[in-house]
Amino acid sequence: MRIATNILFGVLLLLLLVAPLNLPQSVQALCNCTTPASTVALQALYDSTGGVMWSDPWDMTSDDNLPCLGVTCDEGVVVSIDLSNRGLAGTLPSNLSSLSNISKFNVSSNNIHGTLPRELASWSLMEMFDVSSNHLSGTLPAEYGLHWNHSASKQMYFHNNSITGTHVTA
Ligand SMILES: *[C@@H]1O[C@H](CO)[C@@H](O)[C@H](O)[C@H]1NC(C)=O
Ligand SMILES: *[C@@H]1O[C@H](CO)[C@@H](O)[C@H](O)[C@H]1NC(C)=O
Ligand SMILES: *[C@@H]1O[C@H](CO)[C@@H](O)[C@H](O)[C@H]1NC(C)=O
Ligand SMILES: *[C@@H]1O[C@H](CO)[C@@H](O)[C@H](O)[C@H]1NC(C)=O
Ligand SMILES: *[C@@H]1O[C@H](CO)[C@@H](O)[C@H](O)[C@H]1NC(C)=O
Ligand SMILES: *[C@@H]1O[C@H](CO)[C@@H](O)[C@H](O)[C@H]1NC(C)=O
Repeated sequence: MRIATNILFGVLLLLLLVAPLNLPQSVQALCNCTTPASTVALQALYDSTGGVMWSDPWDMTSDDNLPCLGVTCDEGVVVSIDLSNRGLAGTLPSNLSSLSNISKFNVSSNNIHGTLPRELASWSLMEMFDVSSNHLSGTLPAEYGLHWNHSASKQMYFHNNSITGTHVTA
């Protein structure tokens, strides 16, 4: 009996030691995107713009890795985000910059304030960027013009905010 109790105690101790290691550091998959860079950035965007309050919010509780309205993933990485007019309220997190394959980003007609993170200039594949009709302020980061691909198809919309800078057109 004593031995059995000791074994039981040992097993419990082992479980206690091992269990925390099995907890995920971040979500494993989100919006049918599976790379850590994608899931971390999507979670940061959701958190910093009041995700629970959005219209048609993403399901952050399901383990089924369901697609999210407004997010397109290709081979596990985010390639497009369209969250225009969805009730986003808050700021754009700088760690969105880890979405290195994104080419479309539309968060127009929301209640986003603060400044545009200069880190987003690392989005080298960006073709369509629309942050119009929010409450953004500050100066347009010069890096955007320097790093983003100046192709003919590129569309950038910053109007109806309080952003200053040479590239802003009304
Ligand atoms: C992501 O971008 C890299 C570099 O441009 C490219 O090699 C890769 O194929 C892209 N992946 C997807 C899924 O678009
Ligand atoms: C989820 O992603 C996989 C692989 O990227 C894709 O084959 C599948 O069609 C996606 N599922 C949905 C429901 O979009
Ligand atoms: C962003 O989304 C809004 C609402 O759907 C749309 O009117 C606008 O044209 C989109 N922006 C771009 C650059 O396509
Ligand atoms: C992402 O950035 C936000 C604020 O900009 C921060 O609160 C959060 O901890 C960051 N997440 C990661 C995983 O770096
Ligand atoms: C400017 O943006 C605000 C905040 O999103 C919006 O309520 C308003 O309708 C926009 N005005 C125009 C002319 O688009
Ligand atoms: C810029 O975009 C054009 C047209 O989409 C493409 O041909 C070119 O390879 C891109 N350049 C870079 C550095 O991504």
